[in-house]
Amino acid sequence: MDKQLHDSLNEHLLLEFGAAHEYLGLAVWFDLHDLPGFATWMRNQSAEELGHANRIIDHLVERDLDVKLPAIPEPTMSWPSARAVVEEVLAKEQANTASIHRLHQMAQENSDRAASIMLDWFITEQVEEENMVRALLGRLRLAGDTSLGLLLVDQELAKGSVPGAMEAPAE
Ligand SMILES: [Fe+2]
Ligand SMILES: [Fe+2]
Repeated sequence: MDKQLHDSLNEHLLLEFGAAHEYLGLAVWFDLHDLPGFATWMRNQSAEELGHANRIIDHLVERDLDVKLPAIPEPTMSWPSARAVVEEVLAKEQANTASIHRLHQMAQENSDRAASIMLDWFITEQVEEENMVRALLGRLRLAGDTSLGLLLVDQELAKGSVPGAMEAPAE
């Protein structure tokens, strides 16, 4: 594998582990703010991000390449509102998508077909994840900034009935 691609795949691990860690923190924030539906959703997303990191790790190991695990920063635990939290999740997902697209471009430029195929999965996954978070933000906007609206969306999440929200593909 091309060295720059190898280094970049290792560096990308920080985004996946970072998202897993931050989403776990956000799940705790939601739990502490009496929003168990949001908390469950975030906990599931955290587990998915760990799965993503492991997909890349497995690919490197299967190709007998070194894996460099990142130091993961402590996530912020102070948020002004549920909507601010979900907006943060969307920003994280968009940054992750951009990184995946850069990696895929690099794999193609190096004619690394195995890495390209591995990354194809992530491209599809990111479309689904961004769609899910946007759908959730849409529900929050419709609910307005009221406690009742928030409770309603939380109940939807608890039941998995927000469009796209609980339909993530099996990891
Ligand atoms: Fe991810
Ligand atoms: Fe994600």
